[in-house]
Amino acid sequence: MIRVENIALEYDKGNPILENVSFKVEAGQFVSLIGQSGSGKTSILRAIAGLQQPSKGKVTVEDLSSRVGFLFQDDALLPWRTVRQNVSLGLRIQGEKTEVANKKADDWLEKLSLFELGDRYPSQLSGGQRKRVAIAQVLALHPKVILMDEPFASLDAIVRTRITQELIEWVEQEHITVLLITHDLEEAISLSDVVHVLSPGPKAYIKSSHPVTIPRPRDILETRNDTSFAPLLKTLWNELVGERKKVNVVNFDKEKKLKA
Ligand SMILES: Nc1ncnc2c1ncn2[C@@H]1O[C@H](COP(=O)(O)OP(=O)(O)OP(=O)(O)O)[C@@H](O)[C@H]1O
Ligand SMILES: [Mg+2]
Repeated sequence: MIRVENIALEYDKGNPILENVSFKVEAGQFVSLIGQSGSGKTSILRAIAGLQQPSKGKVTVEDLSSRVGFLFQDDALLPWRTVRQNVSLGLRIQGEKTEVANKKADDWLEKLSLFELGDRYPSQLSGGQRKRVAIAQVLALHPKVILMDEPFASLDAIVRTRITQELIEWVEQEHITVLLITHDLEEAISLSDVVHVLSPGPKAYIKSSHPVTIPRPRDILETRNDTSFAPLLKTLWNELVGERKKVNVVNFDKEKKLKA
């Protein structure tokens, strides 16, 4: 479980980026955080990861300090290591013998349809393949918690759908607790149990929280057909852009008719 309690965070003294941010991610829950660019989403993740000390409040990641995986927008593959070596590195750091680590790495590469690419270097991969290697790297460590910051932002829709489907299957199978930061409202709804909206900064706080009622496990292509999907998408959109630009379907239809 991740617990963020009333945290404030500032890079320059006296100018808080975050103020009073509180939320929880229960064990096994998938929670997304959305908010405008620059509002402080990555800063929250940095605080949870222990990379940035909050000036107030507290972050707790329960009993799992060694089993937290990070998936950031730019993957952290080492260019001078092969795909297999990149995936096995974390296992070796955890104390596995090289042969055992390589065998486990191969198992994960197989699961993510990457086995044939084990001897390649990161520069010889496509963007989507690199992202899958980064996912294999994280999953190989059997994390109980994964923190993700816009991990799929640079991918095209087809690769993105495939990767997110693979990821949610592992999340289900291994009961992983996930916090996802994303700009993509549809992705947030499709994947999450709860979506939190961060207010625009500075002094950002959690403006609203929205449970997603679509049953799990989910098929990423089916979630949009759930009756709750479209209304929630509209709600999140209105929350993000504010009252002024509210989507008003009735007026939109009227305008279309007038123009016709
Ligand atoms: N190391 C830093 N030093 C000073 N200011 C910073 C630092 N990192 C981020 N900021 C500022 O803090 C604010 C929040 O940044 P953060 O990266 O958390 O936003 P974000 O919500 O993740 O944005 P985006 O959606 O664009 O990734 C921004 O105004 C940013 O300029
Ligand atoms: Mg960010």
